[in-house]
Amino acid sequence: MTDRVRLFVALDFPAAVKDAVAAVASKLSHTVPDARWVPRDNVHVTTTFLGWVEGDRVSEIAEAAAEAAGGMLPFDARLGDLGAFPSTRRARVVWIGIDDPAGGCAAAAAACEDAVERRGVGAERRPFVPHLTIARLRVPAPVALPEAIVPGLRFTVDRLTLFRSHMRRPAPAYEELAVYPFGLNG
Ligand code: 2AM
Repeated sequence: MTDRVRLFVALDFPAAVKDAVAAVASKLSHTVPDARWVPRDNVHVTTTFLGWVEGDRVSEIAEAAAEAAGGMLPFDARLGDLGAFPSTRRARVVWIGIDDPAGGCAAAAAACEDAVERRGVGAERRPFVPHLTIARLRVPAPVALPEAIVPGLRFTVDRLTLFRSHMRRPAPAYEELAVYPFGLNG
């Protein structure tokens, strides 16, 4: 038995995107009360959430992420509208959507989940909505999300990152275990 680690695979965006997201979060902090705000450096789009896995499975998961990324080509995306899970009437999570008309984020998520499952590791499949979580509410509450405060920043998505999550207070620390550039499968 090896120690277990908490893992997820994500799309990690350029610094300019994280800056823009942090600016939106700071504007919203007055209108969304009693929330835990995601620190700028923790902002990402999860493609595959593994949760707790045995330490000796990490190399297989890394292999799966590498394979999935290798089969992708870089694609363009832009920041989208604000949204909330499960709804703005009873929000638990506030997020910024990703506009990605060609469906690159969903393709990366599907490829990664398939590659993980082929290795017999169960990934949690919840319906995939590409989003950057910016706040989590302690108690579900209605939120009023203003329109037009997210800049339509355009950027290129070109890699998958395998993260290990360390439970910390006030926010988890996400350790980058490996980065897999798109398109290396030829
Ligand atoms: P979230 O931002 O929508 O909460 C690290 O915790 C990352 O894993 C977060 O991006 C989080 O998504 C995601 N995550 C946490 N629990 C998850 C679950 N049960 N299914 C899918 N993704 C999850």
